[in-house]
Amino acid sequence: MKIALEILRQQADHAPKAQTFILEDVAEGTTILDCLNRVKWELDGSLAFRKNCRNTICGSCGMRINGRSALACKENVGETLAKFPPRTVDGLPAIAIAPLGNLPVVKDLVVDMAPFWRDLRAVDPFVSAAARQDPTGDREAAAETLQLPEERAKLAAAGNCILCGACYSECNAKEANPNFVGPHALAKAQRLVDETRDTATAARLERYGTTDGVWGCTRCYYCNDVCPMEVAPLDRIRDIKSAILARTPDSPAASRAVRHRKTLVQTVREGGWVDERKFALRVMGNGFRDLGAIAALGPLGLRMLTRGKLPLTFEPSAGTDQVRDLIDAVRSREAQSHHGEDPA
Ligand code: SF4
Ligand code: SF4
Ligand code: FES
Repeated sequence: MKIALEILRQQADHAPKAQTFILEDVAEGTTILDCLNRVKWELDGSLAFRKNCRNTICGSCGMRINGRSALACKENVGETLAKFPPRTVDGLPAIAIAPLGNLPVVKDLVVDMAPFWRDLRAVDPFVSAAARQDPTGDREAAAETLQLPEERAKLAAAGNCILCGACYSECNAKEANPNFVGPHALAKAQRLVDETRDTATAARLERYGTTDGVWGCTRCYYCNDVCPMEVAPLDRIRDIKSAILARTPDSPAASRAVRHRKTLVQTVREGGWVDERKFALRVMGNGFRDLGAIAALGPLGLRMLTRGKLPLTFEPSAGTDQVRDLIDAVRSREAQSHHGEDPA
């Protein structure tokens, strides 16, 4: 097969420019990485890109292939052409290749990973030092810290991460908030929250429960979609949120983000759908404790009232009993799974 590769080329601080390379005799099973090698070896030795294992292990070859972040050594030509709406250049099937997003370009497809590593470090991605000490001073015991298979199973998904940057590249929250630590870091954070040997769980949940942490995620699902190792970072973020909510009592001291989640479920359980009036008072006003926040809501409330958008009464939904049963059933299954029982 003859194909066109449209590669976005760039030197740092210069505008990017697409350059097209034509490759002949390309088999459908040829990886994108092998195509790039051919460009470099046969057509233009100045093309820059990262690679190492060529086998979906090292995470070096992350890049955008037809607009979607992926590993160049995992994607092949046939599948790539079939997966995306057909693109052609001069009548040839074409594949567009660009550097990862959310990271500055060094040259061509090579990006500066420093922000990625900095964000990973922000979640303190190591088992706490105290957990590595054995209180008895028995060095042999300290060397062998055992875990049950079911404890280890909770770490398996996050443990698959090869730090390729595909999720980070597609993350909308990262794009909007440079301080958001990113899906890779939060996946690693879940691994430490569920690590039975770690002794800093409470401090970690406090640290991760911010808008630069789990509450900053917009749940766009892109990280789950592009991750080549099935880490499912969004699911890991959900695990951390569940741990935060499970540990935080319904108290005035709970953060607004926690009150938001808890109040949402409470009001739906009470009336079958959200009672906006209670929601605003409990979440924003913290049950009349935060009078400043209630006063700040005043102008909006007045506008809504005059436009008929703020009902003075609340009618429970006809299906409230079923909604309540559903919420209770989900809570019961969650409680069973937390106690290691099979909820089925
Ligand atoms: S979570 Fe997946 S996409 Fe993100 S860095 Fe790890 S392996 Fe790559
Ligand atoms: S789901 Fe959240 S963490 Fe994942 S890419 Fe979207 S905003 Fe980022
Ligand atoms: S070269 Fe190692 S993951 Fe692609």
